[in-house]
Amino acid sequence: MNVLVTGGAGCVGSHLVENLLAKGNKVLVIDNLATGRASNLPKDANLEFVEGSIVDRDMVLKVFDKFKPEVVIHAAAAYKDPNNWVEDTNTNALGTANVVQASKVQNVKRFIYFQTALCYGTKPIEQPVTITHPIRPDCSYAISKTAGEQYIFMSGLDAVSFRLANVVGPRNLSGPLPTFYMRLTQNKSLFVMDTRRDFIFVQDLCEVVMKAVDGHGKSGAYHVSSGGDFSIKELYEAVVDELGMPEKKQIEVRPRGPDDAFTILLDPSLTQQAFGWKTKTSLRDIVKAAVAWYKVNPIEQTFTHLKLPPDKTV
Ligand SMILES: NC(=O)c1ccc[n+]([C@@H]2O[C@H](COP(=O)([O-])OP(=O)(O)OC[C@H]3O[C@@H](n4cnc5c(N)ncnc54)[C@H](O)[C@@H]3O)[C@@H](O)[C@H]2O)c1
Repeated sequence: MNVLVTGGAGCVGSHLVENLLAKGNKVLVIDNLATGRASNLPKDANLEFVEGSIVDRDMVLKVFDKFKPEVVIHAAAAYKDPNNWVEDTNTNALGTANVVQASKVQNVKRFIYFQTALCYGTKPIEQPVTITHPIRPDCSYAISKTAGEQYIFMSGLDAVSFRLANVVGPRNLSGPLPTFYMRLTQNKSLFVMDTRRDFIFVQDLCEVVMKAVDGHGKSGAYHVSSGGDFSIKELYEAVVDELGMPEKKQIEVRPRGPDDAFTILLDPSLTQQAFGWKTKTSLRDIVKAAVAWYKVNPIEQTFTHLKLPPDKTV
């Protein structure tokens, strides 16, 4: 099949590109390298890379018309500056509208999206959060991602929106895991927040997405989660252990900021039924794989959608 992947140079997108190529698909990636890296993409005769923004409607329509994708995986998103509402809106709402309308023109058979669990807001009314929980995003990233998801569902395309817990692993440059690695190896000060997260291995996510690429699962929204969570301190300790730095184990725990959720536990039962899928990889193995990648691919910068305290740590 011809599969078009937006944001294919990012963490989730590039792993999907590898999975798609391994199954003999032809793949085209559109990415503006805002948070992704061209070096995340393999050299492969069946892979084409277009460096550009999905905000550029003419480019998107032309690329779709030439490539004629049967499946679209829309992984491009802006999130790195919580105060840049314009960039969030441009990429996540307008850019998504461009990708959706180009998909309609080409009669795309299946459209796959990745939604943030923050679509349920930072204070969900139930834990675990079920798929029918009210949608009430309260930060720029989640508001604009939700606009994108609504356009997708309104379009009438056969669309699967995976609402994700924290997806991590090699090539992940957002959130606490790469920040812990970077600051520990640079011998910089650190603290952790008193929050909890459900960490999902990127290859576990790829397995359920590849089932959706193959047409499994009805159009709709699904959670990709384990249903359990770890404290950020436990994640920190796993990174310390993986780096062999027991002297760094003591760490200050700080109260979370007003835009941060204590935890968002997503109920994965619908996804388990529809796709026969569940997470497999332990936190220790996830950290091991991520750290192995960071060791050979130095990180100079990490990203977060959260408003950081003035000393800009985690
Ligand atoms: N990783 C997670 O835990 C998580 C959780 C919820 C949702 N998501 C969603 O999953 C998707 C993939 O996220 P990721 O973790 O791989 O992040 P990522 O930053 O690694 O990947 C996003 C990619 O989109 C690209 N991009 C940004 N703006 C663009 C634009 N205007 N045009 C073209 N490309 C653009 C970036 O350069 C990057 O390569 C995103 O849609 C994100 O919102 C991720």
